This record gives sequence, structure tokens and C-alpha cells, in this order.
Amino acid sequence: MRRDQQTGLSVHGAHGVYGVRGMSDTQASTAIAQTVQRALAAHADRPGALLPILHAIQHELGWVPREVVPAVATALNLSRAEIAGVISFYHDFRSEPPGRTLVKLCRAEACQAMGADALAAHVKARLGIDFHQTRADGAVTLEPVYCLGNCACAPAVTINGRMYGRVDTAGFDRLVGGSES
Ligand code: FES
Repeated sequence: MRRDQQTGLSVHGAHGVYGVRGMSDTQASTAIAQTVQRALAAHADRPGALLPILHAIQHELGWVPREVVPAVATALNLSRAEIAGVISFYHDFRSEPPGRTLVKLCRAEACQAMGADALAAHVKARLGIDFHQTRADGAVTLEPVYCLGNCACAPAVTINGRMYGRVDTAGFDRLVGGSES
């Protein structure tokens, strides 16, 4: 675990967008193009290839940049508008880079029964953002998830992909470092 220098938030692990953040524009464009080529090579020949391709891009980069649309459209013989429509239709796809820390809160039934609503209210206040938002300083993004597969340890949270169970408000503050500073 390390501490984000700008915000004091503790950062657990990392996700793919780090590979683009900190690069020059040219390096980022090259990295994005290479990611698209890998996703197309892996999935383009399959029926229903669009969603697996977009998921592969987001998995690697942390988001789906607008720049990928032309290459994906050409490869799948679809219009750019169709690709852009799919990206905006599914909440799972991020069209902006996520924050340096990505917090996902389970909103499904088992977690709700164990206090996820109160936890969500606390998390929003603690981070200063609502669901689907990234803080202006780029420190953190908050997303709702509908079952993380950790129902026996509700409420469940992931922080940069690492799972935490039975998270209460004090526990969340410890995870993001708020109660340690
Ligand atoms: S309902 Fe929250 S992890 Fe399954």
C-alpha cells in the first residue's frame, strides 16, 4: 500500500490506466493503439466481438478512450456512431480515465441488508463525490457494482481491484487512510 502524494489517500495496488498517465501524448497514443490492436487480434474474428473488445481495452487501460472508436469501427465494419453508442449505453465502460484510486461499492441485496446504504452515504461524503464521478484532483473514482461475489462478507468493497469484506464506515476510512492521518 502506498500513499497518494497529492491527497493523502492510501492507494492499494494499481490498474491499467497508470500505463497511460504520466506518458507523453505520443507515448499514450502509441500505448492506446497497441492496446486496440491486441484486443482486435484476440476477439475481432468472434461473433459478438464488440463487447469483448471494449472490455479488453478497458481492462488494459482502465477506460475506453474516444480514439479507439475509428479502429474498432473499421475492424468490425460498424459505424463510429454504433461503437460510441455502445460505450455510452453500458455504465461498465468508462469514457474518461478513472482516478488514481478506483473504489467500487456493492449495491446489491446482500450488501444492502448489511448496511451498504449507510456505507455508501459515508463513502460519498468522505470522498466528496457521487457514484460515477471522479474527484477533480484525479485522486479517486467511485463506482457502484451489483454483487462482487463476496456476499457472505457483506458489505463488500473493492479498491483498485482488491476485495474487502464486512466494511463499515470506520473500516472504509482506514482503507483509504482517512483515520490514519
Ligand atoms: S451482494 Fe454484495 S457482494 Fe454480493
